[in-house]
Amino acid sequence: MLSYQHAYHAGNYADVLKHIVLIQTLKYLKAKDKPLCYIDTHAGSGNYKLNSTESLKNQEFTGGIGTLWQRDDLFSYVVDYVNLVKDFNYSEQLSHYPGSPLIAGQLLGENDRLFLYELHTAESRLLNDCVKKDKRIKVFRADGLKDSLGLLPPKENRGLILIDPSYEIKNEYQTVVDALKAMHKRFSTGCYCLWYPVVARKRNQYMERALQSSGIKNIQLFELGIMPDSDEHGMTASGMIIINPPWTLLANMQQTLPWLAESLAEHQQGHYRVEQLVAE
Ligand SMILES: C[S@@+](CC[C@H](N)C(=O)[O-])C[C@H]1O[C@@H](n2cnc3c(N)ncnc32)[C@H](O)[C@@H]1O
Repeated sequence: MLSYQHAYHAGNYADVLKHIVLIQTLKYLKAKDKPLCYIDTHAGSGNYKLNSTESLKNQEFTGGIGTLWQRDDLFSYVVDYVNLVKDFNYSEQLSHYPGSPLIAGQLLGENDRLFLYELHTAESRLLNDCVKKDKRIKVFRADGLKDSLGLLPPKENRGLILIDPSYEIKNEYQTVVDALKAMHKRFSTGCYCLWYPVVARKRNQYMERALQSSGIKNIQLFELGIMPDSDEHGMTASGMIIINPPWTLLANMQQTLPWLAESLAEHQQGHYRVEQLVAE
């Protein structure tokens, strides 16, 4: 039985990077006034109360959105992100954090469609409750990695697929690559955003090599670390791997990531990667 609950982690430094990249990619895709299909294979529960028992347990959000919330010297891409989080808070006090489904819902238009997968029964119920009035959205309590394949290629022929697993099972580093290959085969022009944690660097190296030999072109990688690699300290960094990224993303993340690493890492131990993993 899987036990991961995103409420313990919502708004942490990993969410900051993930959601900055998601926002910039969606904004780029929406600059063209054509319908878009958004698929979230691991959607979570949607909206997170930062005063919940889960959030307060380790207060991870204080090292992420909590650090950025009141700053008035935010770097450009970070401004869009913090402003979007502000849209879900009703006062100057940071109390709510929007998950990826709400972020996408906020940026997408009335002719776009959103498909959200969440396997966990309780999380999926919460997700349903928070998006049920939105006619653009369909929620499935199902395995998003397997079942979303059936949606590809979407009728819009334009789509962003966010793959954000909890990596509770070690072989997920392989499963996500297999899923990406299958998805890409059906919809090669889609934009795919894969989140990953760095817990044991060897697993990431394996995943990157598997992607590099997958035959898929145009893959970029953005990573933010708050402490040096270690196999003993849990997650020390996390990143996003993007297939068919906006052409502007690499240069912008080259500027944003040093700023984030300096702002969010403890004891000046921040580090980052900005890489074209596979050429166009
Ligand atoms: C990291 S959280 C998602 C966070 C969310 N994408 C966000 O950014 O706000 C991962 C979620 O995936 C769910 N999950 C795990 N395996 C799944 C699967 N095979 N299909 C769909 N959901 C799954 C977990 O219950 C958990 O809620």
